[in-house]
Amino acid sequence: MAIASNRPISICLINQKGGCGKSSTCFHLAGTFAASGKQVLLVDVDPQGSISQAFFGSDAVERMTVWETVAALFDDGCNHIDPQQLIRDTHIDGISVLPANHHLAQFNNPSPEQGGVMQFALREFLEPLEAFDVVLFDCPPNLYQCSWNAMIAARFVLIPIPPEDFATQGIRAVHQAVASARVLNPSLRRLGHLITRSHARMIVHQTYEEKLRRLYGDLVLRSTIPELSGFKVALACRKPVQMQAPRSKAATRMRELVGEIMDRVENRSQHREAA
Ligand SMILES: Nc1ncnc2c1ncn2[C@@H]1O[C@H](COP(=O)(O)OP(=O)(O)OP(=O)(O)O)[C@@H](O)[C@H]1O
Ligand SMILES: [Mg+2]
Repeated sequence: MAIASNRPISICLINQKGGCGKSSTCFHLAGTFAASGKQVLLVDVDPQGSISQAFFGSDAVERMTVWETVAALFDDGCNHIDPQQLIRDTHIDGISVLPANHHLAQFNNPSPEQGGVMQFALREFLEPLEAFDVVLFDCPPNLYQCSWNAMIAARFVLIPIPPEDFATQGIRAVHQAVASARVLNPSLRRLGHLITRSHARMIVHQTYEEKLRRLYGDLVLRSTIPELSGFKVALACRKPVQMQAPRSKAATRMRELVGEIMDRVENRSQHREAA
């Protein structure tokens, strides 16, 4: 594995809204970063194990013991964790996965701030790792211990939001959680809101996108992720769209997103973001 020169770009994708495209975006983003030569670690911190299943299949993921998954980091019984054993290579060059499954659910406490040292489990595990350029955290649809751990470990937060009524309702709670996490992780920055699963021709989506841009200004990324069958087909083939169909519209939109993310990472790293 290549050695990254600096700290990796670590981004957690969070939203307490289910089905907003966190895992799908993580999966295809990982492929796009990997296609540009980056070494990517996908950290699955969702007890649903979506990312893990996308790479290793549901049967294999279901059979994993606590000690073979990210849950080992939270389990008092697991000492001397060897990153080489926990982090798995995948069939895609440049992408490794720290897997999760149902064993993680018992540690996903709804009051994470009372978690004591557990709050730093992911950060302590990941900090010494030097092999990765990009670390992406796929979080569950809540703001409990797993998402909290990801925010304590990451440098950046990306908030996927479909431009619809229910999907936009919980944004304030996400911002509050980010603000609270910054007490323990002052270097955490918001990359912004990413409009996902959008249908450009739907009036209601256009209206909500305008509303989000009016309310949050530059905090909403210019790039949007449309609802496209290309994303679903690639996932069904177990390949990020950048590998499955690099000339497709879906792959092009992902490359645009990565370009904007890199600009924002540079910008956020140079300037202090207002709290
Ligand atoms: N841009 C897209 N185009 C087409 N399908 C998409 C897109 N984004 C997500 N999907 C599909 O929508 C469904 C939900 O997406 P996904 O699992 O990524 O959401 P999630 O936010 O991770 O959900 P959860 O909160 O349950 O973890 C999946 O079947 C996924 O393949
Ligand atoms: Mg998911």
